Amino acid sequence: MTETDFLTTTRTFYDAIAEDYAVMFRDVLAATPLDRAVLAAFAELVGEGAAVADLGCGPGRVTAHLAALGLSVFGLDLSESMLAIARRENPGLRFEQGSMLELDLPDGALAGVVSWYSSIHTPVDRLPDLFAEFLRVLAPGGHLLVAFQVGDEPKHHDRPFGHQVSLDFQRRQPDRVSGLLTAAGFTLVSRTVRAPDEPRAEPTPQAFLIARKSV
Ligand SMILES: C[S@@+](CC[C@H](N)C(=O)[O-])C[C@H]1O[C@@H](n2cnc3c(N)ncnc32)[C@H](O)[C@@H]1O
Repeated sequence: MTETDFLTTTRTFYDAIAEDYAVMFRDVLAATPLDRAVLAAFAELVGEGAAVADLGCGPGRVTAHLAALGLSVFGLDLSESMLAIARRENPGLRFEQGSMLELDLPDGALAGVVSWYSSIHTPVDRLPDLFAEFLRVLAPGGHLLVAFQVGDEPKHHDRPFGHQVSLDFQRRQPDRVSGLLTAAGFTLVSRTVRAPDEPRAEPTPQAFLIARKSV
């Protein structure tokens, strides 16, 4: 699959399911205190008012949470349908269309980058490029937060919510991802893995890595 193929497939998938996804995940953060704790730690590390990008923001629920924590945050996503929801539900926040593999930002522009379950659609052989792009846009001392499902095999989602689309959701081992972050030039700050949330019937543990760009 070429780069254009995987980005197009991902965008098409999320354009189709955006409204259903937004409803399904709208209140999830309120029910996952450990996820909120990681986001709060990240917010404290980058500092009040810091410039942060929520890359692969979807409907903007995490963007809104980061803004409420006092960050100067904007969201970016491939999917215009996701962005339409994000703008509708968060009229005070900025959301832009684009690919996080090629950001329209100068070097060192941000104090923080969040990739909350968005790197899961980037093929493993493109993760070094993705993490290099995150490193490029961070200022020295800036922080990155990456969230993803833990596992060894992708989960193939076929016709979710009855829509005629399908997509692989990659699951990864935290050691492998932290190794790639280190190879890209990051220093690992924290590695959090929580058990599946049983009431939500999550099938896998969830990983949250925070890494820092050297000063
Ligand atoms: C599982 S959803 C997570 C959305 C949001 N972070 C949340 O937790 O609700 C993955 C999102 O990442 C976006 N995405 C995937 N690859 C991307 C890329 N290369 N650039 C920008 N957005 C991307 C998708 O369009 C989708 O909205």
